[in-house]
Amino acid sequence: MKRIALFASGSGSNAEEITRYFSTQSDVQIVLILTNNPQAGVIERSRRGFGCGQHVPVVVFDRPAFRESDRVVELLKAQQIDLIVLAGFMWLVPATLVQSFPGRIINIHPALLPRFGGKGMFGHHVHEAVVAAGETESGITIHFVNEHYDEGQIIFQASCPVSPTDTPNEVAAKVHALEYAHYPRVIGEVLATLPG
Ligand code: GAR
Repeated sequence: MKRIALFASGSGSNAEEITRYFSTQSDVQIVLILTNNPQAGVIERSRRGFGCGQHVPVVVFDRPAFRESDRVVELLKAQQIDLIVLAGFMWLVPATLVQSFPGRIINIHPALLPRFGGKGMFGHHVHEAVVAAGETESGITIHFVNEHYDEGQIIFQASCPVSPTDTPNEVAAKVHALEYAHYPRVIGEVLATLPG
């Protein structure tokens, strides 16, 4: 049995897709949702069982607990987490957490890294920057997480066209569709490479 912890700061639509995908697989369990945002939509989604009867416990933490204590690391170790999956998580992951789970933290970024990444480049900010730059394509990047924003080794990318008339919301919709189509499957592929 492989055990996943999901980190999400916002709506949680990716968390929902991932939880639904693995709800039919007996060898993978979404054990825990962690969020920095007490208003995060992912909390309500979990309360509703993600539409598939999966009521995953949610833990809310604040910045001191995340950055200045070992509480989150200790919780993840106590829960014997195999893979940490960031799904719309907006805070930098502290070095202690990265070092405690080497090669076992992955993120999805809503653009084609290394472009449109780094501090401040998250969610709708990314799509606004892509449109402002007149890009003809955008996409998703799934990557391992290190101590720097959006810089870890790339695992998978997929692209979508951006037309000159697209609004940031329209780009976001195309990117979300790519995320739902690929992130759960790629998580499964990463899990399959992990020992134990
Ligand atoms: C997703 O598009 C994800 O790629 C992005 O936030 C969105 C969350 O949507 N993540 C980042 O920008 C991380 N830097 P969701 O809450 O509906 O899954």
